[in-house]
Amino acid sequence: MAPPGLNHVFFASDGASAVEVALKMAFQYWRQRNDPRPEKTTYVAYAGAYHGDTLGSVSVSGVPHFHAMFEPLLFETLRLPAPQTYRLPEGVTAESATSHYLLELEELLAAESRRIAAVVIEPLVQGAAGMLMHPPGYLRGVRKLTRKYEVLLIADEIAVGMGRLGTMFACEQEDVTPDLLCLGKGLSGGYLPMSATLATTEIWNAFLGDYAELKTFFHGHTFGGNPLAAAAALATLDVFEEEQTLARLPETIDRIATHLASLASHPHVGDIRQRGMIAAVELVQDKTTKTPFPWHEKRGMRVCQHALKHGAWIRPLGNVVYLMPPLAISLDEINRLCDALIRGVDKTL
Ligand SMILES: Cc1ncc(COP(=O)(O)O)c(C=O)c1O
Repeated sequence: MAPPGLNHVFFASDGASAVEVALKMAFQYWRQRNDPRPEKTTYVAYAGAYHGDTLGSVSVSGVPHFHAMFEPLLFETLRLPAPQTYRLPEGVTAESATSHYLLELEELLAAESRRIAAVVIEPLVQGAAGMLMHPPGYLRGVRKLTRKYEVLLIADEIAVGMGRLGTMFACEQEDVTPDLLCLGKGLSGGYLPMSATLATTEIWNAFLGDYAELKTFFHGHTFGGNPLAAAAALATLDVFEEEQTLARLPETIDRIATHLASLASHPHVGDIRQRGMIAAVELVQDKTTKTPFPWHEKRGMRVCQHALKHGAWIRPLGNVVYLMPPLAISLDEINRLCDALIRGVDKTL
């Protein structure tokens, strides 16, 4: 099912480990391939990125209030602003956003690619950053540029993979095959801990050799490939097939969009953004200037607390209230969920 070329898999049990594995594999690949490039030791990552809570994944993450405390323990990462569609830099329009953000990446790669092992990206949607949606074509452009400048591409699909954005993999939507792809969460339907790092044959080949050459990927993990978790993951794939989950999603996705559209004219709703089964409503103090509410006013949390009274437990990311329901949710449940969110916004704002 995976994007073509990702023929090898390393299993672990949580998303952060899948990212650690990808980072280490990328690093080791450059040292062990036929034409070694040992100076490639750093990574490009995005502001607001979230890749897990272990130190390697935190190093490439960029959510200050989760990560600032551990700064002295982290390795250096080259950071780019998060590509997005709502708060665009001055002078950038919806039409020019993709090329603007790609130019930023290209300038960085042109200057630093000699020492860059990989670009690490949450494809299409940066979750913990506030469900920021990348402008169309950005991911495809990143793939082109990483090839041009000989840098690996690590796609962290832990949140956006396994059907979440309406296709099995987010990368599919822009015809991209990354060099390494991380999966977790929905891989086992969320029931048992299982994650995976998929790699191309090109990467795999760099780890082959005589025993004494020590080209092994030394990342031992007690529960990697755990049979019970694997059974849950296989059963999840069976459900995708039996219930035609992906084929049913467009109706569910449309239903969410129809409900949330009713919030568009609300004076404190700055943006409604959706990609597949992730939908977010961004609350603002001033709609024209896009001025956020002060974080300590807990506006998002207040909306969610009100929604709870209507039977839906949703979670805010600051001033962003989002829906990320199970793919199996029924249309009736979508109606209830959206109704609870809309009432929450109306009541508290
Ligand atoms: C994009 C992304 N990467 C990595 C992770 C970490 O996964 P885990 O919590 O299983 O370690 C998450 C978890 O929310 C995530 O959203």
